[in-house]
Parts: sequence; C-alpha cells; structure tokens
Amino acid sequence: MLRSGLKSASNQEWATPFRNYRDEIRQYYGECIGRELDELVTPALILDRAILNRNINRMITAIADSKIVLRPHTKVQKSTDLARIQIEAGAIGVTVSTIWEAAAMFASGVESVHIANLVVGRNKIDCLALIAKHGDLIISVDNLQNIDDIAYSLKKHGSKVSVLIDLDVGMARCGARSPKDAIELANQVATHPSMLLKGIQAYEGHCMLEPNPEVRVSLVNKAMDYAGSVLEQIAVKYPSAIVLSGGGTGTYNITGKHPSVTELQAGSFVFMDSFHGNLVPIFEISLTVLATVTARHRNRIILDAGRKSVGIDFAPPRIKNSGFVANFCAEEHAIFDIHSEDKIQLGDRLELVSGYAPTTVNLYDVIYVIEDNKVVDLWPVFPRGPQDKGFLASLQNS
Ligand SMILES: Cc1ncc(COP(=O)(O)O)c(C=O)c1O
Repeated sequence: MLRSGLKSASNQEWATPFRNYRDEIRQYYGECIGRELDELVTPALILDRAILNRNINRMITAIADSKIVLRPHTKVQKSTDLARIQIEAGAIGVTVSTIWEAAAMFASGVESVHIANLVVGRNKIDCLALIAKHGDLIISVDNLQNIDDIAYSLKKHGSKVSVLIDLDVGMARCGARSPKDAIELANQVATHPSMLLKGIQAYEGHCMLEPNPEVRVSLVNKAMDYAGSVLEQIAVKYPSAIVLSGGGTGTYNITGKHPSVTELQAGSFVFMDSFHGNLVPIFEISLTVLATVTARHRNRIILDAGRKSVGIDFAPPRIKNSGFVANFCAEEHAIFDIHSEDKIQLGDRLELVSGYAPTTVNLYDVIYVIEDNKVVDLWPVFPRGPQDKGFLASLQNS
C-alpha cells in the first residue's frame, strides 16, 4: 500500500512528457546498471544509497519529537524517485522552485507540492492554474497584482490553491517588506474564493551565510520570532493561516526548534556538499562527482570535472577523504595541488565533493545510485521544461 501523500505515477496525457523523459533517460543510461564505479565514464554523478538513507533518517529523527513536519526542497535534488523515498520516510510532501518542477512532482504521484518561489508571467500562471487540478498545490505570493493575476487564471480554469504570504525576514530577496504589507497581501488573497490562505513562508537564507554558530542561532531566532509575530497578526483575522514554512539545511537545527515554525524546507541535507558541510557536519556526503585525473605536473593534478560538471557556488570542490581543495575550476578542468609524495597518477579516479550540490545536480541527466561500489539504480534528473502551449493544451484536455 502507498503511504499517504503518494499516488501511482499519472498515466494521463498531460504527464506524457515526464513519463517519456524518464523512460528515455533510463533506457539511454540503462546499460550502466550493474557496473562497477571504475567502469563509469567520467564525470559521473554518483550517490551512495546507504549514506543517503542515513541522512534522511537523521533529519526525520531530528524533528520527530517536535510539531514540525518536513517538506524537503527538491530544487536541490531534482529527482522524483528521491522525492518519493522521502515521503515514504515521513515527509509530508515537497517544496519546489518552479511550476515545471511542481508538474513533474504531480506527474510522479506526489500529492502535495509547495512552490517556494513566485510565479509570474501568463504562461506560467496558466500552467499553475491547470496543474492545480492534479494535486494539493501551495503557492507563495508577495505582490497584490500577482495575486489577482493568479486568481483570474484559477477562476478561468476552475481550480483552487493554498497560499502562503512570502515574508522577507532579512534576506532582502523576495517577500513582503513589512507586517503591514503582509497583512495587505493576506486581505487580498482572502477576496478570492479560489485561494485558501494557509500562512507564511519565511526563508532565512541570509543566516546560512553566517559562519559563527552563535551569531547564526540569534539571527535565525530573530528572523523566526518576527515571522511568528506576523503570522499571529494574520491568524487573528484568518484562522486558516496556521503554516510557517522556512529553514534550510544550514539552519534545520535552529529553525526546526523554533516554536512558531511548522514546516521545514531543507533539501541539501540528503546529498551535502562543502558549503553545507561547514555548517552542519552531522550529515554525511552522499553525492560526489566521479572524475578522472587527466594530467599531472609535479604536485599539480588536473581532473576532468570543471565548472560544467561541479557546482562551485559558496565553496570550492574538494577531493573526498583528503584535505585537497580545488585551486581553480575551468570549464572542463579542476586543478588541485597535492603533495609531491602523493602517488596519484594519470587515469586515476577520484571522487569530488561539490562546492554546492544545488548547482551540481542540474548539470547531469542522471544520478547513478551506488551500493557496494556498484550501480544499482538510475534516477533521472528532471529537466527544465517548456510549460508552453503544447503542454498547456494537453493539461487543458485532461
Ligand atoms: C526558498 C528556499 N527554501 C529552502 C532552501 C534550503 O535549501 P537547502 O537545504 O539546500 O539549504 C532554499 C535554498 O536556496 C530556498 O531558496
């Protein structure tokens, strides 16, 4: 029996692009199943299944005794296979960044999806309104006109969504800039019968960049105290507003304990990388880029995994189980200086820990799932999609 929150993958016509893509990728890379790591063509994105399981269990256990539920951010993960595994483990649904990611999730049978980003533009809004018929869709808003534009399309297509008011809690990216603005947005949502006001999204991304753990704790608590107080003010008038969603891997242990927070959006904890590892070392590196040494000159080695194969935002990549950190990444070259006495030579294979997993996964078609050094499964990385006319027409007909 399927766990609540999951259905079988959709066999409707609108879901065809997702089914086809998945089948094509699995077929294209299928001959790799059963191969040893040494036999894979590099660079290759590899995921240690046992470590992944430990990371998921750690997160589920960390929040088990609180009222907080996990809705992992899958922009990092880009895999419907992994989304299903986390829901099986106890997550209540997923968070995504784009409408296309939301569509991919509904197509795969995930029932509840929160788009933690703003959806602007006619095609995307139409897609939102149509996709909302296929699952529990929660959107984020920070603009009065955008609320009306989305409501117009929802009415036209006869669908409904839940809404979180996006609140800026210090990151200065998206989100209402004051309690007054947030309340005004809530009032506007409430005028539309197609929208159910569910609460607030408050992503404290600026806190992830704070290296001092004590300062980080106080920054997060300040951000979430503020978000909690705005939610309270909104809930006085709108009792349906009960959700406060936020948190990332670098703050899961602070945001996840805050009394006002109800949903945690962390996603990188499943894979980890150099950036997040510096913040929360309790999670292990499960995702690496397998690379080959293509040149050695004295103590300098070059690997075939440059910035077109490994994310370098916020931190440089490093060689797993060593102290070696990349000096520089060109497009197809990662450059490391090792010790003269190290025996690494041309043709050797090494695993790179990415600087930043969220901008690594999207560089690949597939994640090789590894057990005991062998490929046991292939998880297609879902692509950027054309939520354009053809797709909208197939949604409309379903
Ligand atoms: C809106 C939002 N929520 C949550 C996250 C946290 O993700 P992670 O677990 O990768 O830190 C991010 C990361 O950029 C984000 O933009």
